[in-house]
Parts: sequence; C-alpha cells; structure tokens
Amino acid sequence: MDRIKITGGKQMHGEIPISGAKNAALPLIIASLLTDETLTLRNVPRLADVSMLFRIIANHGVDQSFDGKRTGNSDIGGQTVHITAREIVDTTAPYELVSKMRASFWVLGPILGRCGYAKVSLPGGCAIGTRPVDLHLEGFKALGASIDLVDGYVIAKAPGGRLKGGKVNFSFASVGATHNVLMAAVLAEGETVIENAAREPEIGDLANCLNKMGAKITGIGSSTLTIQGVEKLHGTTHSVLPDRIETGTYAIAVTMAGGDVTLTNTSAEYLPVFLDKLTEAGATITEVENGIRVQRDPKTPIKPVDVTTQVYPGFPTDLQAQFMALMTIAEGSCFVRETIFENRFMHVQELARLGCNITLNGDTAKITGVKQLRGAPVMATDLRASASLIIAALVAEGDTIVNRVYHLDRGFEHLENKFRGCGADVERLSEE
Ligand code: EPZ
Repeated sequence: MDRIKITGGKQMHGEIPISGAKNAALPLIIASLLTDETLTLRNVPRLADVSMLFRIIANHGVDQSFDGKRTGNSDIGGQTVHITAREIVDTTAPYELVSKMRASFWVLGPILGRCGYAKVSLPGGCAIGTRPVDLHLEGFKALGASIDLVDGYVIAKAPGGRLKGGKVNFSFASVGATHNVLMAAVLAEGETVIENAAREPEIGDLANCLNKMGAKITGIGSSTLTIQGVEKLHGTTHSVLPDRIETGTYAIAVTMAGGDVTLTNTSAEYLPVFLDKLTEAGATITEVENGIRVQRDPKTPIKPVDVTTQVYPGFPTDLQAQFMALMTIAEGSCFVRETIFENRFMHVQELARLGCNITLNGDTAKITGVKQLRGAPVMATDLRASASLIIAALVAEGDTIVNRVYHLDRGFEHLENKFRGCGADVERLSEE
C-alpha cells in the first residue's frame, strides 16, 4: 500500500495546475446514461473515483474511449473521454460496485428517467457519516415513481414507463439528491420544479451540460431549478469545470508553508467565503489571468479564524479539515464547526499525533495554535482528512509518513508531483 513521506520546513514557490473537478466529473459521466449518442467530456481528472465510475457505467452497457496524448498536451492535463450509452443493457447497479463509490448511486436518476425502471443498491454509510438517501427517494416519488426497498436495493418504477414532472422541495439542499433528481426530471413528461436545490457550482456544470444535450433547465445557480421534460437528449462536448476543492487545498498548503504560488486553470469565482477566510488568516490572494496567486511571507503570523461549514456559497465542508490544519499553528485559538456531516473530525486524532492542540465538543473543534509541530507516522481516514495531514506535515519538524494514501488518490491527481513542483519535500513510497 503506497505511503507519502513529507519532510517539513520547505516554502513553496512556482505554479500548480488545477485539474478538472472530481465532483463535477462524476455526475457528468453519469449523465451519459441519458442519451444513446456520444457525450464527450474534456478536462476529466485521472482519479481513482473516476476510474471506478467508468467501470460501474460499463456494467450498464456504456462504451467509453479515451483520447491518447496529443502533440503539445502537457502530460498532467485532463483527459478527453467519449462515452456512449447506445442501450442500457442492465438497469441494475449491484452492491459490489455501488459500495465502492457512493456517487454511483446517482445512476438511479438517469436510468429511471430513460428506462422507466432502475434497481440500485443503497450506497451504505462511510467514514464521515451515515449519509442516507431519503431526499433522493422523496424526489423520485414526487416525479411519480414507486419506490421499494428490497434486500438493500432501491427498486424504482415509473408507472406507464415514463416519469411525470412534479414539485420537489428538499428539506436540505443535498448535492447528490439535486444531481440525481435533476437527471431523472430532464426526460420526465411535463414540468418539474426543484425547490431548495443545492447551488454548488458542480450542479451548475451538470445543468449546463444537460442543456447542451437538449434539456430545458432554467434557474441554474439558484435554489429553484425548473425543468421542462423532453423526449430525448442528444450528445454534446463539455469541459469539466476546475476543481474548487483542489484549488482551496493548495491555497491552504501555500499559506501554511509560506511562499508564492500561482494556481492555474482555475479561478476565485467559486470560493468567495473561503478565500475571505484564508485572507483573514494571513494569505495574500490575487486574481490573475486563468488562476489565482497565493502568497504568505513566513514572517507573517497565521491568525486564528473561526469557521462554520455551510452549503454553497458558504464555507465548503470539503475544505474544513485542510483549514483546520492551517489553524494548528495560528497565533491563538479558534473554533471550526462542521454542520454538514455528523462525523467529519476523523483527522483530529491524527493531527494530534503531530503535536496539534485540538479539543472536540460535539460539532465544534477548538484549535489552539502551537509553536512547532513534529513529524510522525499518521493514518489517512478519508479523502479530505488525508490532505489536512499533508498540510500539517509541511511545517512539522522532521519526517511525516501518511499511510493509506489510497484515500488521497480518490480525489487529488498527481498530488506529490504538484507539491514537489513547487519545492515541497513530498515523496510517494510505493510498496512492491
Ligand atoms: C457531495 O456529497 C460531495 N460528493 C461531497 O464531497 C460533499 O462533501 C457533499 O456533497 C457536500 O457538499 C460528491 O459530489 C461526489 P449531500 P453528497 O447529499 O451528495 C445528508 C468529497 O470529499 N443527506 O449534500 O453525499 C447527508 O447525510 C465528498 O469530495 C440526507 O440526510 O452530500 C449529509 O449529512 C465528501 N439525506 C448531508 O446531507 C439525503 O437524502 C450532505 O449530503 C442526502 C443527504
């Protein structure tokens, strides 16, 4: 099992290219199920979760082809993939696949919308919480579907073989439920209105792509999405939007280590609240052509900043662990409150091994900055928590070894190359 070794104390200088967003690529790949024509996606990140999803949709009969390297392409640019669901040959998504990658539960919406029937395994919980799918199922019922739970599977049926548009009102602005129900609604008969829809940029990226495929969605970017159902969707070409969570993660890393790095192929557009908080903590953020520049003079102290995670456009829960790592060497104490997931503090006990001073009280962590962290072996527990360990290790004295790096590979492409390219001492130890 691969591990990552970080030797602390190096500043970061240079450029880091940001990849396409994992959390946009996944729903966009799933959207290919909605048409028998070819959906071409550009800037697709090379990630374990993306590869797993390609395997899962192949089970439904989806053909895939990947462009090879083209002259002049950088070898860490995104990949171009051509996906064709000519026919849905199997409307079942089995437990052994869905349990490997939760977002694959989102194949339910398009298969139900296109075939009038879908049998998809419940995804089960994960390290950061139980993560139920009740909002997804209520949404499908509002579109006329019958829903049965049998042996851990959701069996969804559209009476008469086609969903009917309806009114959906989410009690919580769930990202996954919005993706899933939106993809079911585009082929339903009549109008669907989704109230309290999630507003994360990845939802907008999916909706824009669906409209390019012939869907009729209005209200994109707002909490109310209105969809006029159509008979059929056609193929299109769409480029995956930049990964705002990867952008935020590296911005925090540079602020932690000190230095001057430009993050390219990205923008500050989708991180309003986060970048304000990072500036308050001591970073200098400058918007530049095709990216953002992040600077912090190591002599500038890191200030303690209170943070509460919220749905978009609030502070993203996916940057909570990384920001907490930054706060562990701030001059003073602060509070980080996690309101989205019930168990997203798995990184705390690992950060404590590096000498961080963090106490937990329910959904709130109190972080008191310390003068110096010390390297130690630590265990990655979930995707974003793993990044927080690397961020802390950048300033820890000596070596830190992060185990179970497969968590990182799910969501961060070429992570060690991107860090090394800016002078950080980060190395992958591959076990034979
Ligand atoms: C998406 O997960 C992201 N995953 C998560 O990123 C992200 O943290 C999350 O949205 C919130 O922004 C992908 O996009 C692939 P939710 P999702 O439905 O859709 C509760 C990462 O690191 N809930 O908005 O699962 C749920 O239990 C991952 O890239 C219900 O109660 O998130 C959770 O507490 C981690 N019932 C909260 O809502 C439901 O039916 C947020 O869930 C659905 C959700």
